[in-house]
Amino acid sequence: MSAVPGAPVGALRAEQQPDWPDADQLRRVTDELRTRPALVRQDDVTALRHKVAQAAAGRAVLLQGGPCAETFGSLAETERTVATLGRMAEVLARVSSFPVVTVGRLAGQYAKPRSRPTEERDGVVLPVYRGDAVNGAVFNAVERSPDPRRMLRAYDESAAVLRGLGADGASATCYTSHEALLLDYENALVRTDPRTGRTLAGSGHMLWIGERTRHVDGAHVHFARRVDNPFAVKIGPSATADDLLELIARTNQEHTPGKLTLITRLGADRIDDILPELVEKVRLCGAPVLWVCDPMHGNTRTAGALKIRLMSEIKAEIRSFVEIHRRLGTHPGGLHLEMTGDYVTECVDGTGTVDDMDLMERYTTACDPRLNRDQALEIASFAAALWASVPERGHSPGALGERFAPGGPANR
Ligand code: PEP
Ligand code: CO
Repeated sequence: MSAVPGAPVGALRAEQQPDWPDADQLRRVTDELRTRPALVRQDDVTALRHKVAQAAAGRAVLLQGGPCAETFGSLAETERTVATLGRMAEVLARVSSFPVVTVGRLAGQYAKPRSRPTEERDGVVLPVYRGDAVNGAVFNAVERSPDPRRMLRAYDESAAVLRGLGADGASATCYTSHEALLLDYENALVRTDPRTGRTLAGSGHMLWIGERTRHVDGAHVHFARRVDNPFAVKIGPSATADDLLELIARTNQEHTPGKLTLITRLGADRIDDILPELVEKVRLCGAPVLWVCDPMHGNTRTAGALKIRLMSEIKAEIRSFVEIHRRLGTHPGGLHLEMTGDYVTECVDGTGTVDDMDLMERYTTACDPRLNRDQALEIASFAAALWASVPERGHSPGALGERFAPGGPANR
């Protein structure tokens, strides 16, 4: 825990920050980042915020997906992930008839919160892997030592992914998002638009705060309030309705539509007990939040040394999410998934295609288990059928004008 460099108010708690070994080097890196252009354009960020507002109002659905942790040098895999995300969005849009707002967990998803600061193997204790923007996954002292220069590489890799997304000419395929965890990086990329005077987090279109860093008096929540980007907060089973009301008061007191998304990740076995009260109390406070279901992070199990997830539990949490919102008259606003466009064996599908025995075959994730391409498409079809029964709210889509296709307008 350390103070946040550059934060305007002292004594904010900044959880999950690396112990950078060399303060001078850190300063050189953040100085360099401050000279670089924002990775995303203010206009695109504003456009996305309006689309999130549409979804919050019950007139669209958000589809957010990508790997748990991106790794450097994986542009080709990212392209396949984006292609799969695009196909998922098509299925969801066609079957549910909701416009779909597609957002990748990519072009910046290089820092991970961890449950423990160190990892032990055969009596050797080293810093835990915190994502490619911080240190290396390989278990040796050099790789695991946090290196601030990795943040420059994270910027370059993000820029390359963004160029790839825009490379198909007329329109980009999705917006970008990542967990705004690493405050040295995020603060160094904040820009003020001279035209509008608005403050932009320049590292991605949409950002989110993780379950481990959502303390209302913490530095991450403060950062979310400071910038104009649409922001999401992950909500785990320990969150109370009062926590959410406080979070809303701190990040979006003005009730700006599209600003705040709440991504619930409660677990298939707990969502029915926990979600209804959270939704009811937030609805009563009148804040225009978008509710999104992350059916991955509350359903992580272990199989030996591996983390796994079961398709049956992922589907069960999505089904409960949609049913609870339908019952309460609120809009089930979208899905947040960890997935890839490749054939990996990290989630067990229960239909025998990937079973426990196959897990070692292609278990390549840098962090949490992802849906493979077929599993991701299966979840999209499953969700599409559920959303087909969700009533669209407000005016008819025609009267709203834009009925955006998956992907929406260009990122840059
Ligand atoms: C994640 O999205 O990879 C993650 C760490 O999620 P959470 O903060 O919900 O645990
Ligand atoms: Co994860």
